[in-house]
Amino acid sequence: MSEIKVLIADDDESILWVLEKTLTGKKMRVIKASDGPSAEELLKTEAPSIAIIDINMPGSGGLAVLKGAKEAGNEAAIIIMTAESTMKNTLEAMKLGAFDYITKPFDIGELEIILDRAVENLRLKARVSSLKERLKEKLATETAFIGKSKAVQDVFKTVGKIAGKDVTILILGESGTGKELLARLIHSNSGRAEGPFIAINSAAVPKELMESELFGFEKGAFTGAIEAKKGKFELAESGTLFLDEVGDMPIDLQAKLLRVIQEKEFYKVGGRESIKTDVRIIAATNQDLDRAVSEKKFREDLLFRLNGVTVTLPPLRDRKGDLPLLSEFFIEKFHHEFGGAIKSLSSRSIEAMENYKWPGNVRELENILRRAVLLSPSNNLSPEDLNLPQSRHKKESLEEIISARLKPFIEKTGNKGKQELYDFIMPFMERPLIRLVLEKTRGNQLQAAEVLGINRNTLRKKIKELNIQIDKLKD
Ligand SMILES: Nc1ncnc2c1ncn2[C@@H]1O[C@H](COP(=O)(O)OP(=O)(O)OP(=O)(O)O)[C@@H](O)[C@H]1O
Ligand SMILES: [Mg+2]
Repeated sequence: MSEIKVLIADDDESILWVLEKTLTGKKMRVIKASDGPSAEELLKTEAPSIAIIDINMPGSGGLAVLKGAKEAGNEAAIIIMTAESTMKNTLEAMKLGAFDYITKPFDIGELEIILDRAVENLRLKARVSSLKERLKEKLATETAFIGKSKAVQDVFKTVGKIAGKDVTILILGESGTGKELLARLIHSNSGRAEGPFIAINSAAVPKELMESELFGFEKGAFTGAIEAKKGKFELAESGTLFLDEVGDMPIDLQAKLLRVIQEKEFYKVGGRESIKTDVRIIAATNQDLDRAVSEKKFREDLLFRLNGVTVTLPPLRDRKGDLPLLSEFFIEKFHHEFGGAIKSLSSRSIEAMENYKWPGNVRELENILRRAVLLSPSNNLSPEDLNLPQSRHKKESLEEIISARLKPFIEKTGNKGKQELYDFIMPFMERPLIRLVLEKTRGNQLQAAEVLGINRNTLRKKIKELNIQIDKLKD
């Protein structure tokens, strides 16, 4: 704690002198006032942590100063000094929110006890407020798992029941459904919340490195092991270890992992001494582990050990009721990250989102909204701003497809003079059109003319002009 600043206020010089000596002896910084108004002023401008104020001073007495300070929300611990302790004054001082009172003449020991209590109180206050800050931060960043659909509420219920227990949890769900977020939520609601949350992704770590990633290695364990290194188990001590994509765990390591979970101790690579471990395991996968077991890619005994409790996160397409809330959450979040106006979704956008299948689940929603919020000039996001993959597909009309193919061709020809582009290109449009229809009618020109909606004679003329081999279309 930094140096403590104390205001002393009394019109009696000798009292000020004694107090100053005592306080500086306790390594406190002293500011002095000898009347009410200057005490009031210093309380405001200097914001001392503690104030010792005489009840009788010129201008305004200690009680008036105390009252004004409390009304202004001043946080100083105020100690009132009285020459004679009348019950009335004492009561009044305490009612007004004094930290304590002391009767003159007092001995220094008595004052010191009060001061120590005031300092201890300051410390507690500081700790509580920093805890509150940290808690607020935590709530704001890590643990916002959004959803009010029945499926998600059921997940919350299960999590509420099991978060505090040390049981191993297996989280199942498609990619992007929030498995890691849920694991963090469980961790921060468990008795291990103050401990670390460590994740390791079996799909991202090369097979050969997995063991040393998990358990660490001793110096000299293999070429290149110049220094010993801690593994994830050690890093997660007294916290939570999140085994992400556990379905990709190399099969030979699975037996080792199972043993560590059961025995609660492990060996570093190249280590001779076993190390005790106290971690809570949460595993996740988007694979069908039962199938992996039957295909001998995953050990059945490990699966049994992992799924003490299984929580399944449903795909977003099965809980579209969460779309509005999630969208609002992400739009707000990006507003905080990137600034700018808060954007909203047009009703057509909401409809488009409801019709979309969301193969990438919540992560895809987050990405699509991030891009739209960043790139759209409008504050009301349209389906075009969202540019969902499916509607991208639908939007591509015949005209767009043909334009796309024509464009490079026309760009190549440039804009130099007479080239008779129209007459050159039209046959390339007409020929496939007529040929495809004739193919469908197996060369029957009467039918083809009808399908095309042109005169039979016109069709015959075109066939000749475009040099379409009608015989080849008959089978
Ligand atoms: N219910 C939710 N509320 C808020 N954000 C969510 C929610 N679900 C997922 N997210 C966000 O979506 C993104 C993907 O979530 P997460 O990484 O937890 O998914 P995952 O299931 O682990 O995906 P993968 O299998 O691809 O690793 C993260 O940015 C996460 O914060
Ligand atoms: Mg993940």
